[in-house]
Amino acid sequence: MPLKLGECFLFHKAKIIRQFNIKFGVFMEKRDAKQIINELKEKINTHNYRYYVLDDPEISDAKFDDLQRKLERLEQEFPELVTPDSPTQRVGAPPLEKFDAVRHSIPMLSLANAIDEQEVREFDQRIKKILNTTKDVQYIAEPKVDGVAVELVYDRGRLTAGSSRGDGVLGEDITQNIRTIKSIPLRLIGKENEVPELLEVRGEVYLGTKDFQKLNMQRKENGESLFANPRNAAAGSLRQLDSTMTAMRPLNIFCHGIGIVRGRSFDNQLETLNHFVRWGLKVIPDIAICKNLEEIFHYYKRMTERRDDLGYEIDGIVLKVNSLKLQERLGTISRSPRWALAFKFLPKQETTKIKKIEVQVGRTGALTPVAIMEPVRIGGVEVSRATLHNLDEIEKKDIRIGDTVVVQRAGDVIPEVVKVIETKRKGDEEKFSMPELCPVCGAEVFRPKDEAVHRCLGLSCPARLKEAIKHFASKRAMAIDGLGDKLVAQLTERGLVKNVADLYYIRMEQLADLERMAEKSALNLLESIEKSKETSLQRLIYALGIRHVGEHISKILANSFRNIECLINTSEDDLMRIHEIGPEVAKSIVKSFSQKDNIRVIERLKEAGVRYPEKEYAKENRLDHMTFVFTGKLNLFTRDEAKEKVEEFGGKISSSVSSKTTYVVVGDDPGTKAEKARRIGVQMITEDDFKKLLER
Ligand code: IVH
Repeated sequence: MPLKLGECFLFHKAKIIRQFNIKFGVFMEKRDAKQIINELKEKINTHNYRYYVLDDPEISDAKFDDLQRKLERLEQEFPELVTPDSPTQRVGAPPLEKFDAVRHSIPMLSLANAIDEQEVREFDQRIKKILNTTKDVQYIAEPKVDGVAVELVYDRGRLTAGSSRGDGVLGEDITQNIRTIKSIPLRLIGKENEVPELLEVRGEVYLGTKDFQKLNMQRKENGESLFANPRNAAAGSLRQLDSTMTAMRPLNIFCHGIGIVRGRSFDNQLETLNHFVRWGLKVIPDIAICKNLEEIFHYYKRMTERRDDLGYEIDGIVLKVNSLKLQERLGTISRSPRWALAFKFLPKQETTKIKKIEVQVGRTGALTPVAIMEPVRIGGVEVSRATLHNLDEIEKKDIRIGDTVVVQRAGDVIPEVVKVIETKRKGDEEKFSMPELCPVCGAEVFRPKDEAVHRCLGLSCPARLKEAIKHFASKRAMAIDGLGDKLVAQLTERGLVKNVADLYYIRMEQLADLERMAEKSALNLLESIEKSKETSLQRLIYALGIRHVGEHISKILANSFRNIECLINTSEDDLMRIHEIGPEVAKSIVKSFSQKDNIRVIERLKEAGVRYPEKEYAKENRLDHMTFVFTGKLNLFTRDEAKEKVEEFGGKISSSVSSKTTYVVVGDDPGTKAEKARRIGVQMITEDDFKKLLER
């Protein structure tokens, strides 16, 4: 029960004392301050509990803020009186480098699943058999919250630790983040002798449906990636190393179980949950005691009907044997307790008709076919689009435009087409094919071999632009400081930057026009852009964001080519002669440079003054344009040394002989490569000749 606290006395006293302080310039006595602080803390805790746990506030937000401010001020004046359980202490810890691992004192198990009534019957029979009874066993039924499992530790009523489930045995120490969740009490309600000496509470951290939608809307506005469902959003928020980030997400908790408990014992699950409520821990509503299977099925049906109106996602119900003694007798098997079962809901499905199939281009350039359907309500949400993933998926399910299909929402925001109802086909349905040109920028569309996804080759494709710019500016690419998500969003949305080269043509007055852009930051940004012009070939290649060309490949390319023009003019075969460059990478590079717009961007980068030192050819590149093939055993070098030498001096290595091979170096017992060289007329040299070439 929430505590009933004295009303105005407290404010009155605080006010008088503060006035006194101001007037006479003396400090309040510590003893008085301590008492007022304690009273304020208790009052705030109670209102917090009423607001976040009971969802039944007694005072206005303004009054609550006022209390909080009073406490903050007093604590500022008497920092030695600040305790970790003070409501002012929810945020404030410095960001972590990583989360520490914590071992759960009792493993956090998972639940066995049932998907139909028959499986629930079997569960019940199993239990009766082990308990050697024919009588009905009492179950408690709870909604199964679709969130993230956590454990909270209360030491004599004070929250001392919070951890994630991890693999069930080892979790992560996320105490700082847990403390930011307002429905988690920092201190249990009740006097010291009324709360357990030690209480490990298990529960589910979740994000309400409305809060989830709001969060995704904000992220969309900021140009950030969207969360697929509330569970992912909750998990992502809990995994922030900086707890101030977590504090900004309106996370919530439902507590549903215990780990170790000392100084208190319970007979059954219902009693445990009732104590949770008394101590101020939030417990999920809609819990029922079921005396038999019929009551269980009735409860399941009720919850199926209500699941869309709860304000949070549930994906089934959890059945637990109510008696803790019986739970103990039943024990655990293969990481799930024998006494509990998750009875999952079926995914929410409906049928509708596909009107057309559109192609969306994602941030990475991937093309995703999307079914545009006649609107249909699934699980309380109107749905008119569903992802078809990729062409293979469409072909596998034989989805055609005009088909009647089954659509499903499995908790995720984006619904999917499950299957076609073939009996509804009339014969005028149309097959779908991927466009050959990107629907957004018109560049060529390319499907790498062995990949399911089609991709746009336009490096400046508006669909990819934000990501392309962020990558271009990143530390290990062109290293432009100050280009955050919001700024990139503004620059691209206002059309100031249509490709990465445009960054070098931004003017001060354009920046000054942007929201929240102080003159100083604009100057810093321009300076950073200017500084980035002085770069290296490796950084420039990497910055372009060509698929499969990461830092390592960029380095290899920069070592193999004198400048970017040489790389642009190279062929797939030439590229493949370079050690570590395979056909996939070679194809991706050549394809990318075959797009006119991409070349134009590179030209404009050069015109803007982007430059890098070209390799000094006189000494170090004596093997430039030469391709070597080795065959047979070498005596003066190992193969690796020989390769290293060739690359060091600007030459290339190939594993097979072709007309493009300059020399075949023949060691002892040469293989078929020497034969082939002879046949097609490639010059063969000895290892000594090779050494001379190097020393030339
Ligand atoms: S009791 C032995 N009760 O579901 C595990 N779990 O798949 C005892 N969950 O990781 C868990 N709602 O985090 C229990 N009312 C509820 C639950 C619940 C959601 C989660 C839990 C667990 C997962 C099991």
